[in-house]
Amino acid sequence: MTREANTGLRQPEVGVAILGMGTVGTEVVRLLNENADSFTHRVGAPIVIRGIAVRDLDKDRNVDPELLTDDPQSLVDREDVDVVVEVIGGIDGPRELILSALQQGKSVVTANKALVAAHAAELSQAADDSRVDLYFEAAVAGAIPIIGPLKRSMAGDELQKVMGIVNGTTNFILSAMDETGADYEETLAEAGRLGYAEADPTADVEGYDAASKAAILSTLAFHTRVTSSDVYREGITKITQQDIQFAHKLNCTIKLLAVCERVQNPDGGEAVSARVYPALIPKSHQLATVNGAFNAVFLEASSAGQIMFYGPGAGGAPTASAVLGDLVAASRNVVHGGRAPGDNPYANLPIANFGDVETRYLVSMLVRDEKGTLSQIAKVFSEHGVSISTVQQDDYRVIGDDAEGKDFARLMVVTHRAKESDLAATVEALETSHIVASVASVLRMEGLEGI
Ligand code: NAP
Ligand code: HSE
Repeated sequence: MTREANTGLRQPEVGVAILGMGTVGTEVVRLLNENADSFTHRVGAPIVIRGIAVRDLDKDRNVDPELLTDDPQSLVDREDVDVVVEVIGGIDGPRELILSALQQGKSVVTANKALVAAHAAELSQAADDSRVDLYFEAAVAGAIPIIGPLKRSMAGDELQKVMGIVNGTTNFILSAMDETGADYEETLAEAGRLGYAEADPTADVEGYDAASKAAILSTLAFHTRVTSSDVYREGITKITQQDIQFAHKLNCTIKLLAVCERVQNPDGGEAVSARVYPALIPKSHQLATVNGAFNAVFLEASSAGQIMFYGPGAGGAPTASAVLGDLVAASRNVVHGGRAPGDNPYANLPIANFGDVETRYLVSMLVRDEKGTLSQIAKVFSEHGVSISTVQQDDYRVIGDDAEGKDFARLMVVTHRAKESDLAATVEALETSHIVASVASVLRMEGLEGI
């Protein structure tokens, strides 16, 4: 951490290893170089890049080639490195590099939600053992400060619910499908070009990325270790233009939501429910106005009430902003001493069984358009303990004739709050009923409290 200055005095400086120079790393390096003087003032010492690890040394990069290496471990091991910034992505390689850095007493800043969501316990323990920092603000919701506020500003309150749009790629796709009727594939490709999508966009569109973020948010909000495998997950790949039109009819829009909630278990105790799925929310809800690659996280806390965080959720520069905020904080601690608050999973609540979780649903189906259908449909819902709120029949879109020459109509049933297991049993019964041709889609509805 020190160097010999021209004066002969020992001057502090913070040596940094940057692992990865892709979408995020390139912006981290650019901003560090462009704002070097400001960072020196903010930290109390210069932040000096000791080296940058990449996979392909032949790629054209706007950086001193002397800094580049394809051996990230050797960079981590350098004695003059105080802080390691990991923006490679993936799990196994970065896990080893980060553990090694922490074990060597070096603080770590990472944007890697997949890794943090899967291995937070191990990484936090390693940071605690060496009394160094592990920062991961950029891992959730890009530029939006949400990890810091959960660890510090909300530490005196009790969180009840965290609901958010935490994936920029899927929000970009759903917004375009909603606003312009855009094609799914074309919009996904555009999200890739803009640097929002992960290297493998399956993580985005199948909800894995949002599930990692939900695990991290739940861990911090409820002081309970939640990993990505504890999060119920559905992606957006089955959402059709027809679903979006149904949502419009109900004055709603469709968003991929991460819902993290303190719930009551059947035994009366508290539990944590973390789930990710595309859901209808009313157009009047604050989250409905979050479009494009923007993210938002909506908190409900016992004393504070409702708080919403909003901002750019993906992309090189916005994510670099969060990485650099963490780097400044970690560097200040290197220079002045002290440590950031860690996660503190003391509450250790159980994870709720997904079947016991309650929400509202929109069930769309093709049914026989004949006398008595509605009462039979209502009976199926009621027999499985699901109460119907409203029913809409699409009178003008008779779909066709079945073998017996019966017409079909489209029915949209909105339920009251019901358990996932009861709804699943209802749908199974509907699918085998002779009056139902098909259950076209089942979508959850969130944010309807008081509506
Ligand atoms: P990216 O564009 O794919 O960049 C990855 C970088 O890591 C590249 O520079 C690559 O080298 C380098 N790399 C890969 N394997 C390596 C290895 N074995 N050794 C050394 N370097 C290696 O990824 P990104 O979008 O910047 O994302 C980085 C991390 O930030 C991920 O964890 C991601 O989830 C997270 N994140 C991304 C965003 C975003 O909007 N993109 C937002 C929040 C968080 P080459 O350049 O030679 O290929
Ligand atoms: N692929 C992620 C997204 C990057 O689209 O939100 C930000 O974490």
